Amino acid sequence: MARFVGKTAVVTGAASGMGKEVAEQLAAEGARVMALDLVFPEQSSSNTSPSPSILQRKHDVTKPEDWDGLVAYLAHGGVDILVNAAGVMDYALLHETEFSSWRHTLDVDLDGVMLGMRAVIPLMKSRGGGSIVNFSSALATIAFAGSPGYHAAKAAVMHLTRNAAVTYAADKIRVNAVLPGIIDTPMVRKQPDEYNAAAVARTPLGRMGTAREIAKCVLFIASEDAAYMTGSAVTIDGGLSAM
Ligand SMILES: NC(=O)c1ccc[n+]([C@@H]2O[C@H](COP(=O)([O-])OP(=O)(O)OC[C@H]3O[C@@H](n4cnc5c(N)ncnc54)[C@H](O)[C@@H]3O)[C@@H](O)[C@H]2O)c1
Repeated sequence: MARFVGKTAVVTGAASGMGKEVAEQLAAEGARVMALDLVFPEQSSSNTSPSPSILQRKHDVTKPEDWDGLVAYLAHGGVDILVNAAGVMDYALLHETEFSSWRHTLDVDLDGVMLGMRAVIPLMKSRGGGSIVNFSSALATIAFAGSPGYHAAKAAVMHLTRNAAVTYAADKIRVNAVLPGIIDTPMVRKQPDEYNAAAVARTPLGRMGTAREIAKCVLFIASEDAAYMTGSAVTIDGGLSAM
């Protein structure tokens, strides 16, 4: 399929895990992809991207000035798709959570999504529409012990998504959220084995999902195949939140 020929997509958190997979699948289907991540080198230096259609750019989603720089860069070409995949997870129990850790989690996981949409929506409005996919989590609707900042941020992203969907529907900008369950990515590989085993044990399909499986769904939502979808919170969690 080549659903994204002639489209420009911005993907945050594109150096790793699901953001990386989304960027690669979008490029494989014809999109020009602006891949953003903290860990990329400055855009002017070497581009180590796996595809000539993927342009990597060092970018901190929590910094309004980085979004201003991106908007200036994209001003002529415009943007059709934004995928907000950058994310971090806190792990401590609430009463042991450092305030700085809480703040950092909300900065990246919530403020980063708001700043991304705030930056890109005017470009989409002037282009006559667009599609935004925000990464929330199954933990927006169910709870595990610990990770209070992550739970709070992901629930807020789900509802912020609905707010943006309602606000910009008349501008033909669709805004949806995905709520993955436990997915085999570098973020999850860093977690203790017991934590991951407990999450898999609660998952009816009995295994972790793959970045490829999540990216397939993100591409569907981003594409014209999902033209009637906006304001949705799409669980892709092997049944975890159905339990
Ligand atoms: N893996 C899971 O089980 C799971 C489940 C539900 C939701 N999610 C969410 O999916 C998204 C992708 O997760 P993943 O598992 O692929 O994680 P990952 O750790 O593999 O990738 C996240 C990427 O975000 C980047 N990043 C972090 N802070 C940033 C910042 N300030 N600015 C720009 N980039 C930044 C990291 O450098 C990294 O490349 C995240 O939002 C995560 O919360 C993950």
